[in-house]
Amino acid sequence: MAEVSGSELVRMAQQMLESLQAAGVQQLPSPSSLQTSIAASADIESELQPSKADAQPRSPVIEEEEVTMPEVKSSASTLEILSKEVAGCTLCQELAETRTQTVFGVGNPQAKLCLLGEAPGAEEDRQGEPFVGRSGQLLTKILEACHLRREDVYILNILKCRPPGNRNPTPPESQNCRRYLDRQLELINPEFICCLGAVAAQNLLETTEAIGRLRGRIHSYRDVKVVCTYHPAYLLRNPPAKKDAWEDMKFLMREMGTPVD
Ligand code: URA
Repeated sequence: MAEVSGSELVRMAQQMLESLQAAGVQQLPSPSSLQTSIAASADIESELQPSKADAQPRSPVIEEEEVTMPEVKSSASTLEILSKEVAGCTLCQELAETRTQTVFGVGNPQAKLCLLGEAPGAEEDRQGEPFVGRSGQLLTKILEACHLRREDVYILNILKCRPPGNRNPTPPESQNCRRYLDRQLELINPEFICCLGAVAAQNLLETTEAIGRLRGRIHSYRDVKVVCTYHPAYLLRNPPAKKDAWEDMKFLMREMGTPVD
């Protein structure tokens, strides 16, 4: 049999975990609970073959304990390599089957500020770039009001594929995509992240708090400062909220040391 190197074994184990996670497996039995199962099957065997069981010492029954599924991480060494990994992703079957292409992110790979949205819409799916539809046009104007161009910041989404009909991402979809988001942010290493809307904010910060309550203060994701504001699509539907979004942007720019008011 051909020898398998340690790193190959790690890669194979990671692939297996990814397939299990994609199939919806959230937890694996711990070695101790496996031992319990082995003990249980030995019990059944002993029922069938009493004489054999009598000859063997019984395994003690160990209290069952679950271990949480380990986080699956991407170890891509550059954004370019990561974007290729994302382009080939099939973890969410429905999204992989319905997308035109993945939408990785755009902007300055060394940006001080990342803008984080929810997921690509129809136009983004067509063009392969985040925030290029109507919401994107408004976002570009908001950035301009902050004396920023799209090329100065990095724009990305929680999901890299368009959910059909622009529905909200499901929790398994967000979880599948999380490894890419985390690695993307690790590679960009921004000082600030601005979450656009509840889906982005709640996913990144792993909270269920309403967007209205998340606004106006600094949160943290790893060592990065996070501010939250309304999604541009919401602002298009509710123009009076633009005033609040502008307050959020002024707060962010003050925190960044480049005030605009
Ligand atoms: N809405 C988002 O959240 N992201 C996009 O890229 C486009 C619209």
